[in-house]
Amino acid sequence: MKETRTQVVIVGAGPAGLLLGQLLQSAGVDNVVLERRSREYVEQRVRAGVIEYGVANLIDDAGAGERMRREGLVHHGVEFRFEHHAHRVALSELADGRAITVYGQQEVVKDLIALRLGAGAPLHFDAEVTVVDGLTSDAPFVDVEGADGTTRISCEYVAGCDGSFGVASRSIPTTLHRKYERTYPFSWLGILAEVPPSNEELVYCRHENGFALSSMRSPTLSRLYLGVEPNDTLDEWSDDRIWDELNVRLATEATPAINQGRVVERSITSMRSVVVAPMRHGRLFLAGDAAHIVPPTGAKGMNLALADVRVLAGALLAQLQRKDDTLLAAYSATCLERVWRAEEFSNYMTQMLHPNGDDDFENGVQLARLRQAVNSREASTVLARNYVDLNSL
Ligand code: FAD
Ligand code: DHB
Repeated sequence: MKETRTQVVIVGAGPAGLLLGQLLQSAGVDNVVLERRSREYVEQRVRAGVIEYGVANLIDDAGAGERMRREGLVHHGVEFRFEHHAHRVALSELADGRAITVYGQQEVVKDLIALRLGAGAPLHFDAEVTVVDGLTSDAPFVDVEGADGTTRISCEYVAGCDGSFGVASRSIPTTLHRKYERTYPFSWLGILAEVPPSNEELVYCRHENGFALSSMRSPTLSRLYLGVEPNDTLDEWSDDRIWDELNVRLATEATPAINQGRVVERSITSMRSVVVAPMRHGRLFLAGDAAHIVPPTGAKGMNLALADVRVLAGALLAQLQRKDDTLLAAYSATCLERVWRAEEFSNYMTQMLHPNGDDDFENGVQLARLRQAVNSREASTVLARNYVDLNSL
């Protein structure tokens, strides 16, 4: 087996792993990023699209924000539709002038990969980490399977940024961490379509038939979602059926039809809430989906992942450069406070916007929540601040 050494091994080249690599690299800390998929795969994977105000600044400060600032769409409001009427929540007005940026996750990933490869920093694709070990000793290591066999990489710290089904969290003995979990009784069917968005701002919609969301990626590319049954498959949803259902759910008197175009990507995602605590085991630190999942209704998944990494990078630098381990010791507790805030907000948005079949008591409560969210200045201020910049609450 080949053997090498670095200061920090980063497992996973999603937004969390790539940003951590960038923050450590630019501060002079050696690190290796290992990704089991190909570069093409991670750059094409369509996922989240909403970047919080503070997270956009973080991406910028890390030197990866040039294209996001140029091409990203800055939104100052968001629309809620229910009972066939549209209600705008003036995000920026309610959240001290802050706004969200609509910019695809895979674009953030492309920008971070280009930056890293441009700097000549080590980033290996098609490299699967199969073993993470020695975590409670002074000599942790990972084994990675690549095209040229197995390599053992020794290090001082391991960052588990390997997503929800990764090897990192599985390396923690089950008796030493707890997993809090909830599964929701619906999934999201998402499409990307070559057509100008029907609205200037995002539209979250609760209709008797189910949830719908109208989002976008550019002035010519729309991103749309439908709440579907948990066991639905893509075979059951032809393009015609998807457009018909989007039209039914999103219709209001003022906007009876949405723009339709060629569907270029489609997928179904189940909806879960998961928190793994603590987010640390010895010299292993979990960040992003490896430690927590939120249902996508609050648009928090990628934002949480990047916010973890901001804390982790600062804590690793304090330890590696100044031998100060107070921030590393506080890492899990610091992150979990924000994580639970995001879990609560994502749960609130999810429960309010997904009608519950024939449970009319629940449906009545959902509509009461929605009316309060758009009609009460206090309630819409809390919603706006959670949505635009979770750290501001
Ligand atoms: P990931 O992006 O999952 O990155 C982890 C990386 O680790 C992956 O590239 C994976 O291939 C790699 N990896 C895993 N195991 C190994 C291993 N053993 N060795 C090496 N590499 C490994 N959030 C929203 O806010 N809105 C959305 O619309 C939305 N849609 C989503 C759709 C889907 C299908 C999924 C799965 C998630 C979605 N999310 C959404 C959530 C959001 O995309 C995630 O929160 C975000 O990707 C988290 O980033 P991450 O870097 O922590 O993990
Ligand atoms: C998008 C995804 C979300 O989960 C969300 O809440 C809003 C927008 C998107 O992909 O654009």
